[in-house]
Amino acid sequence: MAKRSEKAFYITTPIYYVNDVPHIGHAYTTIIADVINRFKKLSGTETFFLTGTDEHGQKVEKSAAERGLKPIELADQVVGGFKDLWKALNISYDFFIRTTEPFHEKGVQKIFQRLKEKGDIYKGSYKGWYCVSDEYFLPEDVPLEEAGYKICPDCGKQARIVSEECYFFKLSAYQKPLLDFYAQNPKFVRPPSRMNEVVSFVNQGLKDLSITRTSVEWGIPVPGDPGHTIYVWFDALHNYLTGIGYDWNMELFKKFWPATVHLIGKDILRFHAIFWPAFLMAAGFPLPQTVFGHGWWLKDKTKMSKSKGNVLDPYIILNTFGSDPLRYFLLREIPIGLDGNFSHEGFLHRVNSDLANDLGNLVQRTLTMIQNFLNGKIEEADKEKEGDKKLRLEFEALKEKTIKFYEDYALNRALEEIWSYINSVNKYLAVNEPWKLSKDESKRKRLGRILYQAAAALRTIAYLLFPVMPESSDKIWSFLGERKTIEEESFAELKFENFKLGQKIKKPDPLFPRIALKAFLKEEETRPAPSRKEEKMEYITFDEFNKMDFRVGEVLKAEKVEGTTKLIKLEVDIGTEKRTMVAGVADVYSPEELEGKKLIVIVNLKPAVIRGIESQGMLLAAEVDDKATIPFFDKDVPTGAKIK
Ligand code: MSP
Repeated sequence: MAKRSEKAFYITTPIYYVNDVPHIGHAYTTIIADVINRFKKLSGTETFFLTGTDEHGQKVEKSAAERGLKPIELADQVVGGFKDLWKALNISYDFFIRTTEPFHEKGVQKIFQRLKEKGDIYKGSYKGWYCVSDEYFLPEDVPLEEAGYKICPDCGKQARIVSEECYFFKLSAYQKPLLDFYAQNPKFVRPPSRMNEVVSFVNQGLKDLSITRTSVEWGIPVPGDPGHTIYVWFDALHNYLTGIGYDWNMELFKKFWPATVHLIGKDILRFHAIFWPAFLMAAGFPLPQTVFGHGWWLKDKTKMSKSKGNVLDPYIILNTFGSDPLRYFLLREIPIGLDGNFSHEGFLHRVNSDLANDLGNLVQRTLTMIQNFLNGKIEEADKEKEGDKKLRLEFEALKEKTIKFYEDYALNRALEEIWSYINSVNKYLAVNEPWKLSKDESKRKRLGRILYQAAAALRTIAYLLFPVMPESSDKIWSFLGERKTIEEESFAELKFENFKLGQKIKKPDPLFPRIALKAFLKEEETRPAPSRKEEKMEYITFDEFNKMDFRVGEVLKAEKVEGTTKLIKLEVDIGTEKRTMVAGVADVYSPEELEGKKLIVIVNLKPAVIRGIESQGMLLAAEVDDKATIPFFDKDVPTGAKIK
């Protein structure tokens, strides 16, 4: 096969399971990929960025069944949530693959068949400890617990013995070829600590891998043996081939394969650094250049996951701040190989200090001075003095370092360098005090020079930040009166002096909101999560619904709860007895208005004490902008009637 051109760059994210709502952890992987891809594009490389969803397998089958849905219905719902989040995060991918698409299924079957014919896949039977949650047979060296079962070393759940006829992939035959490959390509797995992990694992010996299931219906059927479905990891890994056209657009495929970098979380390293290259070797494809395993975002020191109930909803931040501050924070806070503990306090601190104070103020000050002192245009500037020149030269060095760090996926280092330059520009203004020169007409050229240096520096800062903060960078360029967009200027053309005298500067809008911690955390507690309802939709079964006892209740008496503005105490007849309830509706309804009315109440809700009164039920109301509207009946209904 033809070798991929040096100019072509292909980056992938893992494809996400559709049994989970997208959270900050998923956002992290995708943001890193987007940043690296944007950087490569700016450098003039032709790139392809693939992401998507992993839709088959037992996990998805199980989650769908729990919700009373078909697996594809669950997938259709969750995919929308991922696509919306990528849009909200300004992710600019080239293709979104779903493993339920026919072209993918066909491609996987074709490769499976090829390996079977070659003898790398054979039929046998397997008995072993199987983790349903992670969908894999546990390595044999996992010890037996005293209780007589094994625990999955990845997720900590109890495994169970499964025995089934299945097809195996001859992984054992690839131990030596893999070790040779790692030795010749020491940068195949990054960071280096993870390469060591992989090598030592392979050194211990590789067993053949069971790659089909008879117990899972929701998967790609084995060609010619439809009682078996292909193991979800064999299916999913091949998305990296089918997502760029394997078997349906070979021209595209040849242009971009092999992948430059598979970006993954460290939890799925073994699949990508051992199984995947072995599958590729067997099928005769060239191997990817790099598998980069990033660290995790932890919440309260544990990895975020739906099953632990500690996932962080990115919309809490996105709804208030937009995408750039979140992108910045996730990349700046930790080197991408390490874990980080996520907190909203940490986020806010960074945003207020780095974005609002350092960068936001610099933009605001510089552009406002050009507006106020020079009528929005720097028409003339005196010669560069030593101090002025220093700022230009510092940029030259910064440019080199930033490129190197972006190339090396050291995104936090790139940002550190850019911030150190932002601080230099802030210092330059503090030392040169342009505001003192503005009243002296004879100092106009000097004033022009100082503001020119600051504006030219800002222009380069915006450019270098573009991969991480595309929206804010574009805004800064447009404030500076640039006609070309950032993406139209390549890294090679980026020069300090490309900021031209006479450019019409616009009045800047504030770039980053400054929000007090208390206000933000308060909002976070009370905010109804994502804008898309389906994303957070937690289905209940009909039986669960049936447990709720809704009745027609008649309000016999109503009075305001003293010392509150919103609460009304109600005496409600529910047909079989009278109940006391407290409702937060006094800002909309007076007690008199409610007396004699029939409304909907839930009567088997656990009583709660509100302002010292035991509320033995709850009335239903629509809530719009924090105000309640109670649904009343348009025909008379008997008190106590059941509502179903
Ligand atoms: N479907 C498989 C991947 C198949 S790729 C051929 C899968 N999906 S996943 O949805 O569970 O996880 C996808 C990615 O999200 C993984 O890289 C995982 O590491 C990453 N993250 C999930 N939670 C995370 C954090 N809390 N922090 C950082 N990334 C984490 O695995």
